[in-house]
Amino acid sequence: MGAPALPWGSPAAIHSGLCIFEGKVPAGNILASAPSDRNLGAFQESGCRTTHCNLEVLQDSTLVFLATKPHVLPGVLQEIRPAVCPHHIIVSLAAGVTLQTLQRLLPAGTKVLRLMPNLPCVVQAGAMVFSRGDGAGEQEAALLKSLLSSCGLCEEVPESYINIHTGLSGSGVAYVYLFAEALAEGAVKMGMPGPLASRIAAQTLLGAAKMMLETGEHPAKLRGDVCTPGGTTIHALHQLEKGALRATVMSAVEAATNRACDMGKD
Ligand SMILES: NC(=O)c1ccc[n+]([C@@H]2O[C@H](COP(=O)([O-])OP(=O)(O)OC[C@H]3O[C@@H](n4cnc5c(N)ncnc54)[C@H](OP(=O)(O)O)[C@@H]3O)[C@@H](O)[C@H]2O)c1
Repeated sequence: MGAPALPWGSPAAIHSGLCIFEGKVPAGNILASAPSDRNLGAFQESGCRTTHCNLEVLQDSTLVFLATKPHVLPGVLQEIRPAVCPHHIIVSLAAGVTLQTLQRLLPAGTKVLRLMPNLPCVVQAGAMVFSRGDGAGEQEAALLKSLLSSCGLCEEVPESYINIHTGLSGSGVAYVYLFAEALAEGAVKMGMPGPLASRIAAQTLLGAAKMMLETGEHPAKLRGDVCTPGGTTIHALHQLEKGALRATVMSAVEAATNRACDMGKD
């Protein structure tokens, strides 16, 4: 917090569950809107302004995040459409709502971007991808990337990667939790208390992930480094291969990606 006001005007949100802009934008520059106070309390506690009027957000702000449930979004776009001007940058988080749909429901030439976050954004360790619509340029992409970098990794990708990101990372968080749970349960089976096993499982995932990011090494190389010939790890990895862990996880990513594609067609 304490960042200077941004030259492009006040960012705003028509509801956002993300801890976005931390350290980059004064909370008072953010205006969040939703029909009820259910989610707005968290914004108020962070020092953001709130309203129940979506049009007020458009009047107040330049950068507008749309984070309603996907089925609600067309109605919101219809409501705000008359107030959308060329200076607005509209960012949709709604899963499955394509740039083509967003562009169809907004005035021609609107600067629109589609963003896909994941849950760890709330602890500033998210993995996000976004794609630009026809009206959005390098400047809008750079702005979004710069602001969202405070929530984690943020990459611009072709729109066709967004559903893959859902399969890899949006849903992937749940696969990792399942793996963490299984790791800890293995330790409990061998006699370690559950809470300690859970903490160590989480730290193991965190450390392994950090090494992958910081060294830039392929995971197969890092895995090989842990395998002493005839040692404990290679015996354990043999069990995981017998259980087809690798093929199962690949199928999980494929299933979630295909489901995301199907949901976009509903
Ligand atoms: N959560 C994630 O990790 C994640 C990841 C990727 C994408 N997304 C996308 O993010 C979006 C939000 O998901 P969520 O889990 O955060 O849902 P959520 O907690 O239910 O939030 C949706 C918000 O939209 C508000 N809303 C409903 N109707 C509205 C309207 N007409 N105008 C303005 N605001 C309205 C709701 O207000 P009330 O509080 O009054 O009900 C609520 O605060 C979804 O499109 C989802 O696909 C989420």
